[in-house]
Amino acid sequence: MGRSAKVVVTGATGQVAYALLPRIAAGEMFGPDTEVDLRLSDIPQMIDKAKGVVMELEDGAYPLLSQVTANADRAVTHKDIDWALLVGSKPRGPGMERGDLIRENGPIFVGEGRAIAQHASPGVRVVVVGNPCNTNCLIARNAAAGVPSDRWTALTRLDQNRSRSLLAGKAGARVRDVKKLVIWGNHSATLFPDFTNALVGGRKATEVVDRKWLETEFLTSVQQRGAAIIAARGASSAFSAAQATVDHVRSLMTPTAADDWASVAVVSDGSYDVPEGLVSSFPVRVAGDGYWEIVRGVQLDDFARGRVSASIAELEKERTIVQDLVAGAAAR
Ligand code: LMR
Repeated sequence: MGRSAKVVVTGATGQVAYALLPRIAAGEMFGPDTEVDLRLSDIPQMIDKAKGVVMELEDGAYPLLSQVTANADRAVTHKDIDWALLVGSKPRGPGMERGDLIRENGPIFVGEGRAIAQHASPGVRVVVVGNPCNTNCLIARNAAAGVPSDRWTALTRLDQNRSRSLLAGKAGARVRDVKKLVIWGNHSATLFPDFTNALVGGRKATEVVDRKWLETEFLTSVQQRGAAIIAARGASSAFSAAQATVDHVRSLMTPTAADDWASVAVVSDGSYDVPEGLVSSFPVRVAGDGYWEIVRGVQLDDFARGRVSASIAELEKERTIVQDLVAGAAAR
């Protein structure tokens, strides 16, 4: 033992958080040697309910859970945090795109960004889960003057997990045999799961399964998977989103295997012609020193490049829609 992490989970009474919190408490996110001080954040009218979740976490008697509290005041919950898991936001309903939530959810992330800048530890790292997560991350980052851009990430791991599972099923392979299948662009219906660079059992995916299927059914299924879950369940994904959040954080803390990449939406440095400052998903590698970098030199064929460009164009459009939030965000 010896290590500890202060972690805030926003939207603590929501379904994703309900699936996520016990896993953090059990040590699945930060490992068996790290104690966790878990802060549950939510809006004031949800705090009584959040206290019920606190009781359940206490009743789990998790050996690694050093403290668990709930509060609606970000000055309390975000104080000295090492990790901010920003889940709190309105979920989409049937027939909606994630981007339709942007004007409603965007302001929440101005508040989150400011609170992180004011109260978090200097080494804070942020994961945006609430949709539309890329642009919400952009908003929060712009509101957080002084917090370096490499700390900001948004979740496309759910799409990566979906892609790997689907491709493995089609190829008759195991999920763990699918490598380098990463998401580019936005967590939206334009996302691109890059099958052109993916490997199945060490072979190119395009040699293992029919490329036509990859370009059509596979692509559409991954892009529409969130909507399919909403249509079937009457509510958006919950424990698969929690699983992806655990995977995302673990990937950022663990050196990436030599034969694999992780999908992480990060602040673009201009790589692959993605305009600087946009929060886009890229293939990412984490080195032994714990720092991540965008994988360089990935070849994209014309089909892949066209798909990535379409998703980046959508991110640019989203940025325009929230221009006022981004521009005025850092103001107090
Ligand atoms: C998902 O992909 O399942 C989540 O982003 C929820 C949604 O709105 O689809």
